[in-house]
Amino acid sequence: MINTYPRGEAIPIDVIRGRLQRLVNHLPDLALRKACEAVFTKNFFIWPGSVSKHHVWVGGLAQHVLEVTETGKHVAERGTGISVPVVAAACLWHDFGKLWDIIRNGDAWAHGEHYDRVYHIYRSATEWEKASKKVSREIRDNVTHCILAHHGERKYGSPVEPKTLEARIVHHADMLSAWVYQDHPEPKGHK
Ligand SMILES: [Fe+2]
Ligand SMILES: [Fe+2]
Repeated sequence: MINTYPRGEAIPIDVIRGRLQRLVNHLPDLALRKACEAVFTKNFFIWPGSVSKHHVWVGGLAQHVLEVTETGKHVAERGTGISVPVVAAACLWHDFGKLWDIIRNGDAWAHGEHYDRVYHIYRSATEWEKASKKVSREIRDNVTHCILAHHGERKYGSPVEPKTLEARIVHHADMLSAWVYQDHPEPKGHK
């Protein structure tokens, strides 16, 4: 049957963790690997991908980031003149700021003040800048651009629209992962 995977299926969190680590291990230099590993905090593996739109379950954010990174890397590797490390790092970091946007509200998840006042795009970019001080300025800025542009248009919260192939790939990989789950409030597996 078609449409059974990944729609409606939560991937076990230890599998997500292993696949994310493998993606980081493939990055070409130590400074970039260390900067990307900074994403893997305790809350990153707990938080949902959104409050109501996609990946709304515990572990949803990590699964969404895994899907975006695997898709982005796959596409980037098949193009010419595309920086796979930039795409991979930006995919890993793009929604990290959701750890600020989304708060626990008893048993549920809700948008906090950060969602209205700052928004995750800015926070993801500034956290990436903090974590990547030992990475070359060129890679840092290219990744920052991809993070800032990942919603595609200003009206969806991006301060800048995608200007590079890497940024377009990150944006479309993000959309693809989000759309696949858009009408699935909770898959089997995670509570
Ligand atoms: Fe986002
Ligand atoms: Fe996303």
